[in-house]
Amino acid sequence: MKTPKLTAIGSGKGGTGKTLVATALAAALAGRGERILLCDADLGLSNTTVHLGLPAGGDLIGLLAGRTALCEAVVRVKNGPQAKDGFDLLSAPSGSGAFANFDESVAARLVSKLRNAENYDRILLDLSAGVDATTMGFAAHADETLLVMTPDPAALTDAYAFVKILLRVGGSRPLAIVNMAESEAEARRTNDALTKTCRAFLKTSPDYLGGIPRDFHAVAAIRQQRALALLFPQAPATQAVEAIARRLCEYGARRHAPDALQRAR
Ligand SMILES: Nc1ncnc2c1ncn2[C@@H]1O[C@H](COP(=O)(O)OP(=O)(O)O)[C@@H](O)[C@H]1O
Ligand SMILES: [Mg+2]
Repeated sequence: MKTPKLTAIGSGKGGTGKTLVATALAAALAGRGERILLCDADLGLSNTTVHLGLPAGGDLIGLLAGRTALCEAVVRVKNGPQAKDGFDLLSAPSGSGAFANFDESVAARLVSKLRNAENYDRILLDLSAGVDATTMGFAAHADETLLVMTPDPAALTDAYAFVKILLRVGGSRPLAIVNMAESEAEARRTNDALTKTCRAFLKTSPDYLGGIPRDFHAVAAIRQQRALALLFPQAPATQAVEAIARRLCEYGARRHAPDALQRAR
């Protein structure tokens, strides 16, 4: 049985652009032919539907309660003229607060249901901010974790805490994305700072997946509640996410080579 790859998207700090990256990456990977499910694992404050301007994001609560099968719990997000251009979304209703008092076992239960979804190549888990047990539980159960940070010093310290706790709970070394950078040079400097701290204290560090520039198109797409790639296909942020999607696919294909990403770039 072919099981989907579980790719978590986390950050530690809030507001680094996890949901923007998750929705844009879902579209970019679908465009590359992957069958994608985007799962809003920000259970307390889910907002992928708000980003995408959708009236509903499926029935995550029903799935967890055992009332709804996965195929009935998802909604289709169109991302182009053809059916294959889109991706599926699984979310609790935004603003419901349905999971405000969930217990930690929810991560393990949800992941075990998602693992059997043979009709997807990859499931993206858009995590909440923070490093609480549920969030880190999702990251620990995932096959890979993308760590979204920004050049903001607080994002860097929170990213370091995220890596430290992820390794402690048995997760694999994450892949770093630097969002809202003024330039690719600044994105690399930010990644270098994280690498240095992680190597000094953890003896290992994330691989660098790429930078996404600070781009007014990203803000405009979120304000207009439309998918970034549909609204601004040529925008710098859209192009950067597409490059990250390409590297992520290459990384998956070469993951057995230790320094695969460095050679791929
Ligand atoms: N590349 C970018 N360029 C400019 N602004 C961005 C970019 N990415 C995110 N933002 C801004 O950051 C805000 C938070 O993004 P969001 O994806 O909701 O973060 P998170 O899910 O990490 O809380 C957005 O509303 C948007 O204004
Ligand atoms: Mg978010």
